[in-house]
Amino acid sequence: MKLGFLASHNGSNMQAIIEACKTGALQATPAVVISNNAESGALARAKRESIPSYHLSSKTHPSPERLDRAILDALLAHQVDIVILAGYMKKLGELTLKRFEGAILNIHPALLPKFGGQGMYGIHVHEAVLAAGEHETGVTIHLVTEEYDSGAIIGQENVPVMPGDTPKSLQERVLKTEHAYFPKVLQKIESGEMAIPGYKMPTSQCPDR
Ligand code: GRF
Repeated sequence: MKLGFLASHNGSNMQAIIEACKTGALQATPAVVISNNAESGALARAKRESIPSYHLSSKTHPSPERLDRAILDALLAHQVDIVILAGYMKKLGELTLKRFEGAILNIHPALLPKFGGQGMYGIHVHEAVLAAGEHETGVTIHLVTEEYDSGAIIGQENVPVMPGDTPKSLQERVLKTEHAYFPKVLQKIESGEMAIPGYKMPTSQCPDR
């Protein structure tokens, strides 16, 4: 299973998945990293790990259609099976969404459908959770569609809100769960225990053959 990552900033979720690939906990290959941010931690991590990486953005491709095509071409050139949005702050274009329909996963640091959508990113999510007086938050992994945070949910993991939590302390606790949970979900997809519409296990790997 070849993984293609799109990430805008730190890339700690991507790194957690790379580590799971390295230990063999996840039987997958990080095939390519794409970032819209030339200075991102994600691109630096890709270089350190010798994973092919590309800066593709409105700076490199001012036309949105050409940018979409360039992203799709990079994913196809590296024979990606599953696209992982790991803190990617841009919308994907139509071509990429269509070609990888049902095989693009995003991680969101709350229990969708609550605390999702436009403006719900980074620390804002955790501020909103605390302002709403929630006792529980969590992590959601969902399929990506053209709308933010609205594709089918494929997995969720709960995280408690503790008395005295600040947005920062909550963010840190949720992020730890993200790092453990994303590789786990990918492992279930890889083993066939969990299915997503856009990824078919190679027949040689099917458990009943
Ligand atoms: C994570 O909290 C993720 O849920 C959200 O963006 C953040 C990315 O963090 N989509 P990192 O770049 O993986 O450290």
